[in-house]
Amino acid sequence: MTQGGSLLGVSIASAGHYVPDNVLSNADLERMFDTSDQWIVERTGMRERRIAPPEMPTSDMAARAARQALAAADLTPADIDAFVVATETGDYLFPATASLVAARLGAIGKAAFDIQIACSGFVYALCATASMVRAGVFRRVLVIGAEKVSAITDYQDRSTAILFGDGAGAVIVERANDNSFLSCELGADGTQPELLYIPAGGTLEPLTAQGLTERRHCMRMQGREIFRFAVTKMAESSLIALNRAGLTTDDLAYMIPHQANKRIMDATAKQLGLPAQRVLVNIERYGNTSAASIPIALSEAVAAGKIHRGDALLFVAFGGGLSWGALVWKW
Ligand code: ACO
Repeated sequence: MTQGGSLLGVSIASAGHYVPDNVLSNADLERMFDTSDQWIVERTGMRERRIAPPEMPTSDMAARAARQALAAADLTPADIDAFVVATETGDYLFPATASLVAARLGAIGKAAFDIQIACSGFVYALCATASMVRAGVFRRVLVIGAEKVSAITDYQDRSTAILFGDGAGAVIVERANDNSFLSCELGADGTQPELLYIPAGGTLEPLTAQGLTERRHCMRMQGREIFRFAVTKMAESSLIALNRAGLTTDDLAYMIPHQANKRIMDATAKQLGLPAQRVLVNIERYGNTSAASIPIALSEAVAAGKIHRGDALLFVAFGGGLSWGALVWKW
């Protein structure tokens, strides 16, 4: 712990990501049910997504992203104090996927825990771990957003089957002289879980043979309500976080939003007055990868040399819960 209660500095040392090779295109979806490339592109901005093979669980993708982040920072798993995975599609209901990822990396005996708040998971995880590093609890943490959303998607439901893909993104959060974690705003409203949820498989409704037949182990979503909620909360939480950081949208190098729907991202950018070139979007290639979408977009932007030291970044997400989170970070 720190002496006298003063907070330490924190920064992101590196980023990495992994997406499976297998591509599920809009043309593939056209062959599965009544839909069209034009409908999907106009309503969502998506053209294709990646789907992990049956033998590749979430922890495998997470470990691959983590290895890339470790290599980019010239670190080994032994240098990491804690492993944190944001996921709604863990390998098991329990144990935590983070402990499985640490084991895959050969790091036994370190702290490991998951954060499950659906698509908002990475923003929550980054906030929690950066705060712990600032408080002196850990020196260096691997924070991973990893999802195999295809495993909980009902491919007979065209309104959700078009949206989701698999992948993982990772960052290494570490103690630093300067502080890069400027602010965040997190929230949740659990009064209507059925707007976006998996009905069966938990303690409220254990999975039965009939539930399986009715596909109640797959995600259900009320798309229109979620859309409205997303546009309101993304902009609102972004403005609160920016205000807490003492910044305005003019100060931002990039907004890196959760990649749920191009129209949601466009509407949020419009409300914030952010031009399109300052919004990082990769939804056309990966669809919605839930808690993995922000770290994948970040890792791609870092690899492409788009992000420079000192850049102010806004991470903003929404998702099941319902939940939301915005976080301002100085790169
Ligand atoms: N192809 C063709 N038509 C379709 C498809 C499809 N794939 N899916 C639905 N439709 C039809 C509907 O049946 C409906 O037809 P009807 O008018 O005859 O009943 C019509 O298209 C309009 O349906 P809406 O649901 O109103 O379409 P909308 O414009 O809202 O777009 C969408 C649907 C894309 C799902 C949108 O509502 C959306 O993106 N919502 C937010 C989803 C989201 O971001 N979820 C976050 C998940 S994050 C997490 O935590 C997992």
